[in-house]
Amino acid sequence: MNKTNFTQSLLAWYDNNKRVLPWRDDKEPYKVWVSEIMLQQTRVQTVIPYYNRFIERLPSVKHLANVDDDILIKLWEGLGYYNRVRNMKKAAFLIQNTTFPSEYNELIQLPGIGEYTAGAVLSIAFNQPYTAVDGNVLRVFARLLHITDDIKLPNVKKEIKKEVQRLLPSTRIGDFNQGLMEIGATICLPSGEPLCMICPFNKQCKAYKKGVQTLIPVKRSKKATPVEKKTVLLVQHEDSFVIEQRPSKGLLAGLYQFPLYENHLTKEEVMVLFNQHEILELEDLKKSKHIFSHKKWDMIGYLVKTKEKIEKLDYQHKNDIKQYYAIPIAFKTYKEYIIEKEII
Ligand code: ADE
Repeated sequence: MNKTNFTQSLLAWYDNNKRVLPWRDDKEPYKVWVSEIMLQQTRVQTVIPYYNRFIERLPSVKHLANVDDDILIKLWEGLGYYNRVRNMKKAAFLIQNTTFPSEYNELIQLPGIGEYTAGAVLSIAFNQPYTAVDGNVLRVFARLLHITDDIKLPNVKKEIKKEVQRLLPSTRIGDFNQGLMEIGATICLPSGEPLCMICPFNKQCKAYKKGVQTLIPVKRSKKATPVEKKTVLLVQHEDSFVIEQRPSKGLLAGLYQFPLYENHLTKEEVMVLFNQHEILELEDLKKSKHIFSHKKWDMIGYLVKTKEKIEKLDYQHKNDIKQYYAIPIAFKTYKEYIIEKEII
């Protein structure tokens, strides 16, 4: 591909088509960093309200470095991959008394900052010549270059990164990187038909020329993800519900949940759990599924109203659950039962 043509076409397309997003107005490194961490694994439309609320509450590295963990996790509630934000706080703590690092070697050493994030921050906030190759960019280039190997393979990533590096312009590097991601997110779509008719690169795109754009990137045949059956209980007394904190290590560490049991319990089994307590109501709740990166939960739920509060269980008023406790998105169906739909 001709470098000058490619760069010019991309930047012109980006100027005319880029989405107006809050983190694109203000390229302060801290804000770029926050947005890029949020955008890993989460779609732009979902990120916007989270980003605005986060920046309003924690407008600087110093604020982030010193925020209470519970408040921090609550700000992230629903975004998933909570270690991302825990690492951000650790990194903020390390850099709170310096100006924001603008050297690749410094950034890459901070917790939670890898090649992608370092490249994104350095190119967008500091206009430095680094690539920011995410899943969108890998897909765009797999199609442009007709790469039929798995784009997750390190040598394929390396090949694509090398090509992006070669094409980097000398100015507007952040816009160039964001333009590539934007093409991936809005034109060179991951599922369904990509919008090749309006793509600025349809003349150069090898996959499009061969008519195989929907077949690339080639999907590996994935191992079936293990499924775990779970039962969620909404244990209610008046306007309060029982919550519990998950262990401090492992999946969804330290977050809150409604009482959760292995396997699908029957009503009789639930009644046995509450044997000494008078149950006023025992109702089926909706079924729900949640897919983690490595496993699936297949959930059923029951609403259990008891006559008295049960000692030793932690009851919280539904408004406090909403305001103070971070409950992961896996429990969305059950949380929505007690709390009217939220911003998420
Ligand atoms: N995905 C991750 N970062 C992005 C950005 N800056 N613009 C568009 N999509 C993105």
